[in-house]
Amino acid sequence: MKILSSVLAFSLFIAVAACSANSDFEKKATSIINAKCVECHSTDRTYAKKGMSPEWWKETIKRMRSYGAPLTDQEAKTILEYLSK
Ligand code: HEC
Repeated sequence: MKILSSVLAFSLFIAVAACSANSDFEKKATSIINAKCVECHSTDRTYAKKGMSPEWWKETIKRMRSYGAPLTDQEAKTILEYLSK
């Protein structure tokens, strides 16, 4: 019984850790989008396409950067990962 409850406690710990890592990542990605993707259109336009394929987002982000979206390579990678999920 003792072993079982430690296993349960451990799984819970992992679940909570994974969850908060996710929301940190989400916060980071959305703060980039909310700061850098609002110059020309609302963020609705961006979030409406959340879940499109990584290839689609790669092309779209490249196009937005060519229009003048001020993203660093690292920021582009972060939002690509977030938006294609
Ligand atoms: C310099 C202006 C500008 C900035 C900054 C900008 N966009 Fe755009 N965006 C546009 C224009 C113009 C269009 C419409 C033409 C097009 O789709 O190429 C557009 C369209 C879009 C679309 C719709 C594309 C489609 O095919 O449905 C998405 C999604 C998008 N932008 C995401 C972003 C994201 C994410 C960022 C931040 C990295 C961003 N935009 C920053 C100008 C901009």
